[in-house]
Amino acid sequence: MPRGKTDPKDSARIVLANCGAIDPESLDAAVAAGAYEGLRKVIAERIPPQAVVDEVTRSGLRGRGGAGFPTGKKWSLTAPGAVKYLVCNADEGEPGTFKDRLILEGDPHELVEGMILAGYAIGAREGFVYIRGEYTRSIERMTRAIDQARAAGFLGERILGSDFAFDVVVKRGAGAYVCGDETALIESIEGKRGFPRLKPPYPGQVGLWGHPTVVNNVETLANVPAIVRRGAAWFRSFGTPASPGTKVFLILGDVERPGAIEAEMGTPLRTIVEEYGGGVRGGRRFKGALIGGAAGAFVSEKQIDVAMDFDTPKAQAGAVLGSGSVLVLDEDASVPKLLDEVLEFFEHESCGQCTPCRAGTAQLVRILRRALTSERRGEDLDRLVALAQAMRDTSLCPLGQSPILPIESALRHFRDEFLTCAVPVGRL
Ligand SMILES: Cc1cc2nc3c(=O)[nH]c(=O)nc-3n(C[C@H](O)[C@H](O)[C@H](O)COP(=O)(O)O)c2cc1C
Repeated sequence: MPRGKTDPKDSARIVLANCGAIDPESLDAAVAAGAYEGLRKVIAERIPPQAVVDEVTRSGLRGRGGAGFPTGKKWSLTAPGAVKYLVCNADEGEPGTFKDRLILEGDPHELVEGMILAGYAIGAREGFVYIRGEYTRSIERMTRAIDQARAAGFLGERILGSDFAFDVVVKRGAGAYVCGDETALIESIEGKRGFPRLKPPYPGQVGLWGHPTVVNNVETLANVPAIVRRGAAWFRSFGTPASPGTKVFLILGDVERPGAIEAEMGTPLRTIVEEYGGGVRGGRRFKGALIGGAAGAFVSEKQIDVAMDFDTPKAQAGAVLGSGSVLVLDEDASVPKLLDEVLEFFEHESCGQCTPCRAGTAQLVRILRRALTSERRGEDLDRLVALAQAMRDTSLCPLGQSPILPIESALRHFRDEFLTCAVPVGRL
């Protein structure tokens, strides 16, 4: 059972409540810890699908894949159709992010149940879980959990003796960052090259094989069983009114204790760094952090008290929560070097379909490197921002629209470092 706020020194746990506490390969262990109670409740009490959508809407659950879109709303916006699909996004390609893996490996039945409940709510008979290919143990554990659930009557035809039928297929990704984008992921499941689609139409209208499709992140779906079992009001007792629940944060970089924690939404960045992360390594000064991965933003030491929910980082620091990763920088960290690595990542991962991103990501790397060795650094840095802005406005998918965030935030907080740094970065 979720531990909740029993111990103020401990983090609040919902999705990771059983991780490390049960044998993830045992259905009996999962059931003893509460797995499939939400599903049993829905079937036994004949709760209609719309009531499940309503409960999730009332809970205020927002997508943990990065954008924070309200999950109940996404489910409600799905177009009617005889055939609908549910897709669980377990591609987890964001640098510094490994939260979904903890769920896939530590409590796969929680995710299977979340997928069944989501499938029930939206009227899907089939679900796909798209797992990044490098996650071999995640693939093994999810495959085993799905087989166990099917053998126990939680999946397949006539689930728990009802008229509801649902099954889950595991799909293996091939390691492209862009395939984490929901439309590229759909193309990939269809057996095509993972090129993002132009939106609209959104997957809720035209998704997998042309049918209405809901794509949700692993952490999002893993919250659903507890919401169904314990109710929206219970879920809202965690987090903030606009961002209820918990979040898995990844604490990385120059901290004493790197790792993953689940804590309430709205936990201050300072608490994440100093209490959960054990503080900056070696007692050094906190210089800032890159929050939300490569597609995230830099914050400075002035923002260490920002509340980590979906809205406050944006409002107070021009940052985003994104995947929940927090890469801590100590006083000696080089922001230009880190930005160089981020831009190189985008260049490498651009799928090449649209020109602004294909040409732009390569140019960004070139301009930054030139800026750091040129006589007129300021002009080149302005050019970098202008190009990233043009990419934001013209790229086909959010990959090409993202570099503006780390670039603009790095220059907002650390421009002097870019103007004065003597060390050439990357492979100049
Ligand atoms: C380049 C790119 C990579 C993405 N990678 C992931 C990912 O690895 N996992 C994920 O859940 N969402 C990822 N997303 C976001 C998805 O497109 C989508 O918004 C998300 O799966 C929706 O789930 P949610 O509403 O539960 O958050 C990515 C988006 C982009 C543009």
